[in-house]
Amino acid sequence: MCGIVGYIGHREAYSVIVQGLERLEYRGYDSAGIALYDGTNLNVSKTKGKVADLRSKLETEIPTIGSVGIGHTRWATHGVPNDVNSHPHFSNSGNLVIIHNGIIENYDSLRQELLQRDYKFTSDTDTEVLVNLIEDIKKNEDVKLGKAVQIALNQTIGAYAIAVFDKSKPDEIVVARLGSPLAIGVGKDEFFIASDATPFLEYTKKTVYLKDGEMAIVRRNKKLKVFKIEDNSIVVPYVEELQLNLEQIEKGGYDYFMLKEIYEQPQAIKDTFRGRMLVKEGIVKMAGVDDNLEKFKNARRILIIACGTSWHAGLVAEYIFEEFARVPVEVEYASEFRYRNPVIYEDDVIIAISQSGETADTMAAIKLAKKQGAFVFGVCNVVGSSISRITDAGAYTHAGPEIGVASTKAFTTQITILTLIALRLAQATGKMSNSVFRSYLQELDRIPSKVEEALKCNEKAELVASKYKDVSNALYLGRGYNFPVALEGALKLKEISYIHAEGYPAAEMKHGPIALIDDQMPVFVIAMKKGHYEKVVSNIEEIKARSGKIIAIVTKGDKEVKRLADHVIEIPETLEPLTPILATIPLQLLSYHIALMLGKNVDQPRNLAKSVTVE
Ligand code: M6R
Repeated sequence: MCGIVGYIGHREAYSVIVQGLERLEYRGYDSAGIALYDGTNLNVSKTKGKVADLRSKLETEIPTIGSVGIGHTRWATHGVPNDVNSHPHFSNSGNLVIIHNGIIENYDSLRQELLQRDYKFTSDTDTEVLVNLIEDIKKNEDVKLGKAVQIALNQTIGAYAIAVFDKSKPDEIVVARLGSPLAIGVGKDEFFIASDATPFLEYTKKTVYLKDGEMAIVRRNKKLKVFKIEDNSIVVPYVEELQLNLEQIEKGGYDYFMLKEIYEQPQAIKDTFRGRMLVKEGIVKMAGVDDNLEKFKNARRILIIACGTSWHAGLVAEYIFEEFARVPVEVEYASEFRYRNPVIYEDDVIIAISQSGETADTMAAIKLAKKQGAFVFGVCNVVGSSISRITDAGAYTHAGPEIGVASTKAFTTQITILTLIALRLAQATGKMSNSVFRSYLQELDRIPSKVEEALKCNEKAELVASKYKDVSNALYLGRGYNFPVALEGALKLKEISYIHAEGYPAAEMKHGPIALIDDQMPVFVIAMKKGHYEKVVSNIEEIKARSGKIIAIVTKGDKEVKRLADHVIEIPETLEPLTPILATIPLQLLSYHIALMLGKNVDQPRNLAKSVTVE
């Protein structure tokens, strides 16, 4: 969602900020803006559209000189995407300017109070209310900007990451966070502010991640001051050394991040089990699990909470945990769980899955579960993310930055780590024999090269995509372990090509969706040789009898489905619980090619955001 970038130091702020906004484009947005202080004037330029639109507009609109400024990409919440609602927003005096990620829930009552005190509003945003509240406090209580921000934030309800600049005090920027991420890059005599560290990677690796409820004053040539919003108490900032490098966040010769990330999967999976899976020794070790093994072993049940693709990975994990460790598992949408007064036992183990580690619904669900005494284990990709901080323990997937809005390597690495956890638990509880345990380790070890082989279907996927790119609807069917893959395949198609697609357990087809099948309907069927193969073949027969078009993902060497389907895409054979990792590869490629052929922006699909930090 919204992206924040700020700079204060000795460089030209304009280029640092605009390039930083480009790096944050993956978060999803509909407008962009910048405020630059040129030594005398505070100049703002903003526009509906992309950062490229801002770039061309602002160069004719405002001076691009100065070494302090703030910039923003907005994902509309309050008010439609247009130039006026774009950030930054000025206060009425024109002295203060603000950028904001999040939602101020009580903005309407604050607005009414300010209207009574003759404040005027030009936009429909909650953000403009906040900057005027800060101005009002600063004026009436005669306090400095930092104090005014602190008082104002104590009057607000909601979530935010903000940066505020005061032209009467141009050597500082005040920032704060609650529920939305904010990182501060610490350079030599300069500071960078951003929603994540990618905008300042080439300038500094030293980063302070503000925690929820903290604010900071970044001042030119001075030390960073961090304190708590609640009571102003000083916090000693913890400076981390970033493990990221520039190469990881660039396209590296690919046309789109999504394609790059699809092809990164063999390596990403290796990185997920590196150091955790010792095949020869027959050991799985993960500090987060090992340190809490008793909790896992004594779990009455495992509750998995997540959203979107991460929820699909949770569904795969449900099959795996129940099969391997014989523990009951429930998988919940975090957005439903958080509001439905769920029954949570103290001996439940909650696994929260999130690529970004910032998803607002998942965060809220975790807080609820913790409040009710459950142990919460996080599975995140982004190191240092909010979810990784608020959970009791966890494991990173180590997939590297995922920038394409459509999750690809996040999904396969989430399944990988969840499989490792299930194996560890099955071994610890004695629910799996040593020989079976070892055969899983050996097969998991082969998975990266099998993914490599599955990726060779790219040309076939492109050919199939060219035949079905103009359809309006598509069905995805799978059974058992591959039912969640059908859901994931449908989600991938929907989100980047805007074609309506539904995923179903193959056997459910006859309870409704079969009515949709005619000679225009492509049905993508995952028909692995393992598991319920014969049943899926029967489902394929049923589709064929109704003239549906069948695109089947099959095990290499399959003959039966080949005879029935219009197209088949082969993937290597593996153990049944590991088939989702391979079966998902052709579906990712199919969606990618269809979206590309339709001329869609594959990496930044309309209306979507990479990390969904608001409800
Ligand atoms: O960062 P998270 O894994 O918590 O994100 C959850 C969903 O927003 C995310 O998976 C979304 O569904 C993706 N766009 C799917 O490709």
